[in-house]
Amino acid sequence: MRSIRLEKVKKSYRGTLVIPGVDLYIPAGKFFALLGPSGCGKTTLLRLIAGLDQVDGGKIFGGDDDITERPINQRAVNVVFQYYALFPHLTVFDNVAYSLRLAKQPKVLIEQKVVRLLEAFHIDKHLYKLPAELSGGQQQRVALARAIINEPDVLLLDEPLAALDFKLREKMLLELIDLQDKMKTTFVYVTHDQFEALTVADQMAIMNSKGEIEQCGTPKEIYEFPHSSFVAKFVGTTNLFDGKLKDLESEEPHIDIPDLGKFKIYIPQKKEWMREGCDVMMSLRPEKILITKKRAKNFSNKLKGNVVSIVYHGRSTQYNVLLSNQMRLQVFEQNEEHFPQEVIDYDNEVYLYWQKENVVLLQR
Ligand SMILES: Nc1ncnc2c1ncn2[C@@H]1O[C@H](COP(=O)(O)OP(=O)(O)OP(=O)(O)O)[C@@H](O)[C@H]1O
Ligand SMILES: [Mg+2]
Repeated sequence: MRSIRLEKVKKSYRGTLVIPGVDLYIPAGKFFALLGPSGCGKTTLLRLIAGLDQVDGGKIFGGDDDITERPINQRAVNVVFQYYALFPHLTVFDNVAYSLRLAKQPKVLIEQKVVRLLEAFHIDKHLYKLPAELSGGQQQRVALARAIINEPDVLLLDEPLAALDFKLREKMLLELIDLQDKMKTTFVYVTHDQFEALTVADQMAIMNSKGEIEQCGTPKEIYEFPHSSFVAKFVGTTNLFDGKLKDLESEEPHIDIPDLGKFKIYIPQKKEWMREGCDVMMSLRPEKILITKKRAKNFSNKLKGNVVSIVYHGRSTQYNVLLSNQMRLQVFEQNEEHFPQEVIDYDNEVYLYWQKENVVLLQR
């Protein structure tokens, strides 16, 4: 296992800046997810780390070594792409054994290693099939096996599950987490699926459409404490309100939202940009809101609205509520059966309650 560090890494394609000078630290032995919208530069960044492309500026370190100029085969970095790209004329066994044969390892050892790994991946029944005779999920397992058989320091995974159906993806995700746990290899997992990133990652980075890293942190930090509206919107669903910061120096700071009112906020740490009366944005996650037709006690904030649509998701229900300023608020309620649940219908007038601690203030 090895850490990867990027220092001011730049890359342009035909005069268009794709990676604008990125600093990024990927800790050794962790499951690291890189999340960003389509076309933002994720694959480009992986290709630079792997040595499949050269940087236009900046440096890449593997551990303490500067690997910026090193050829692909001297980086101890392997890659798995979305489309598995197996050798079509080689059997499963030969595909996986390929790099070990290239390294001239003893035949008996190769056989042992390959069979053991394919057993762990539940594809040992298909050793002598060609890739075309396998399902998508099986092909992707072979691609993964081929990428880890020579125990690379770093494994780069570029949307490796994107071609699979939801159920299989979920299953393979858990297997990947398990595998990483056992191998302790540094995994860099690229996806534009926030659910995948939140599930797999020890650490994650969010890239915006300009190829800049907006925020790095644990999934919980990113989800609970986004630094920008881009991160708040991109990771999960949120309600964003524009307002002005008021009573900043008092015991009870507020956000003043036009046509809606004043709401209590909690500021654990005052930021440099926070000034009395300045423009701010409030992010309030849909699951942090209590929706009810009755009055509730002990909440810092309250709003009134009308239910305009209800979407049943099985585990939870999503309510869209029209507020007096014509804004639509999203609320998620868990469908728990532990107590008699209140029935909320379309067009009902409801109260919405939330605690000031559940609000995140963002610069606008
Ligand atoms: N070889 C290339 N030549 C010219 N432009 C390229 C090349 N490779 C990528 N680009 C451009 O660079 C930008 C970033 O592409 P990249 O493939 O890194 O995005 P991505 O984040 O991986 O997107 P996706 O999630 O869709 O895979 C895109 O605008 C793309 O068109
Ligand atoms: Mg890509």
